[in-house]
Amino acid sequence: GEKWVLMATAQTPTNIAVIKYWGKRDEELILPVNDSISVTLDPSHLCTITTVAVSPAFEQDRMWLNRKEISLSGARYQNCLREIRSRANDVEDKEKGIKIAKKDWEKLHVYIDSYNNFPTAAGLASSAAGFACLVFALANLMNVKEDQSKLSAIARQGSGSACRSLYGGFVKWSMGKEKDGSDSLAIQLADEKHWDDLVIIIAVVSSRQKETSSTSGMRETVETSLLLQHRAKEVVPKRVLAMEEAIKNRDFVSFAQLTCSDSNQFHAVCLDTSPPIFYMNDTSHRIISLVEKWNRSEGVPQVAYTFDAGPNSVLIARNRKTAVSLLQRLLFYFPPNPETDLNSYVLGDKSILQ
Ligand code: PMV
Repeated sequence: GEKWVLMATAQTPTNIAVIKYWGKRDEELILPVNDSISVTLDPSHLCTITTVAVSPAFEQDRMWLNRKEISLSGARYQNCLREIRSRANDVEDKEKGIKIAKKDWEKLHVYIDSYNNFPTAAGLASSAAGFACLVFALANLMNVKEDQSKLSAIARQGSGSACRSLYGGFVKWSMGKEKDGSDSLAIQLADEKHWDDLVIIIAVVSSRQKETSSTSGMRETVETSLLLQHRAKEVVPKRVLAMEEAIKNRDFVSFAQLTCSDSNQFHAVCLDTSPPIFYMNDTSHRIISLVEKWNRSEGVPQVAYTFDAGPNSVLIARNRKTAVSLLQRLLFYFPPNPETDLNSYVLGDKSILQ
């Protein structure tokens, strides 16, 4: 009868940009003003877990984020749902005796249950993992046969950075040239095994929600910042090539220099926006100074830092030994304390403290 439910679950890690995406040339389709490059985190740590369900008993599409119902009426959700639905195929579950024909998907509704195992909207790219996971789970449920790159272009319409979470390892979001966005998609540069010496540590400076959303921040930057024009035209194209080389050669010196410079330029572009946008705070600045001093005293960079649209720092250590030393320094200079704002460390690699 009409009582069946069919489900699919996906788990998707977040990604951290080492060459930042900031600024859209098309807000509707989410097309960026420059290419970006990111590293996808280990799926067991910062990730979104999404279960999607379909049943003839569901009367409308509904979604819960972290157990609270949220509205699906926004264009971003609607675009992802529409794009996936239009590519749905026949689905058959012989065990349960369920058969859904391709044409039935237009009439069926879905329930979406999504959960982040880390602070939402605190500049830890929760939307990246979220939309990538949603698109991937829906594509599985609806037997969509497109490859990862095509799916990435759909996830992009949910949140730009989400397109890069469809792959592990190092990923480039190619801005594309087409007006319809069909070539604005993610490409894997190297898989997760390519450079597995790196250890990523996230120092959560504040788990509060950011004040300026990336959408409104980018819009204001595009409208007012001359530095963004220079960055997008003159700086990023060269940096992307240099970063691809650094990744290919596992060249940590270049990788760290490019990563830190690009984070700093992104925050400079925010400051060049009118009114200026401040994502980093004093603690963020102190972490930058600590890393800069340490790298200088060692002669060669040991750690790279990067900050997204929030004060939390993402620190990339060249290897495990450096990561242990970094943690010791962080704990020494910023002892976990509810009175200070820096009080938790989320590790990219749990076993490091054992
Ligand atoms: O995809 P959004 O709208 O959450 O924008 C992400 C922007 C940054 O995280 C600051 C940079 C990036 O490339 O991920």
